[in-house]
Amino acid sequence: MRIDIVTIFPGMFRGPFDESIVRRAIERGVVQIGVHDLRNWATDRHRTVDDYPFGGGPGMVMKVEPIVAAVEALRAGEQARVILLSPAGRRFTQPLAEELAREEQLLLICGHYEGVDERVREHVATDEISIGDFVLTGGELAAMVIVDAVVRLLPGVIASESLAAESHSSSLLEYPHYTRPAEFRGWRVPEVLLSGNHAAIAAWRRQHALLRTAPAAARPPRDRRPNPRRASVAGRAAVPREATRGAQAELVLQKLRDERTTRCRLVHQRELLALFDHRRADIPEAARKLVLKADKGIVA
Ligand SMILES: C[S@@+](CC[C@H](N)C(=O)[O-])C[C@H]1O[C@@H](n2cnc3c(N)ncnc32)[C@H](O)[C@@H]1O
Repeated sequence: MRIDIVTIFPGMFRGPFDESIVRRAIERGVVQIGVHDLRNWATDRHRTVDDYPFGGGPGMVMKVEPIVAAVEALRAGEQARVILLSPAGRRFTQPLAEELAREEQLLLICGHYEGVDERVREHVATDEISIGDFVLTGGELAAMVIVDAVVRLLPGVIASESLAAESHSSSLLEYPHYTRPAEFRGWRVPEVLLSGNHAAIAAWRRQHALLRTAPAAARPPRDRRPNPRRASVAGRAAVPREATRGAQAELVLQKLRDERTTRCRLVHQRELLALFDHRRADIPEAARKLVLKADKGIVA
């Protein structure tokens, strides 16, 4: 893959791209990254890349001509994704990172000041991407975030089994990790992880990925240890609504399987019913019949 970044602050990229995974990917030839000073495409003596906004108002606007000249010089072909970084763009997510990792060339345009002349978005950019609902001073940090998230997905950069279970790569957040020591200040690593029982470890990891994904309400009470310094797990990550509901359903199904009494089973079936209207397409197959039965007051 080739990535070209157009910026008025090329020096900002020196540290982040000279370390860790991105550096290794460059050294292995998996990715080529070019950081280009937009001022190289300015045409006047002062290398001007911004001007006052038509219609007045505060701040400066980045000019269209140098950006178009840069894109035309750097674009290897029509297939290149020309990405304008902008707080108004499509939200950057893991699926979008996966989509971009399949491209031949990404060309990232970093804005500054009040932003970029709208004609860049209208006529030059193929994508407009935001890394979140906040305003950065410039597009450079956003470009670094995107490059990092994309490059680590390129074949041969990270072992594929490490990527498979990562948060946001499936509909579930990743399970918790621990390493040595097994006990620190009385904080014990869960016994099952020390047991060597691979099936039990896999089941524990699945369960805890579900617990992280499902909102706090679906978690068993023993997991809700009061800790005022810690935000609720569910509050820490934005998980798609459907994934959340799927994880909740799987937790309720697990409880249902362990339940002996008819009354409790019906309670769990009703929990499922509350989660899913049985006409919905997103209902997991295992839950569908139970929901239909609960709807009629029949215990499964
Ligand atoms: C100060 S911002 C411009 C904000 C603009 N006046 C507005 O209110 O939408 C300057 C540049 O930073 C970059 N930028 C700021 N926030 C961003 C975000 N959340 N995601 C991606 N790029 C961002 C964009 O390239 C933008 O042109």
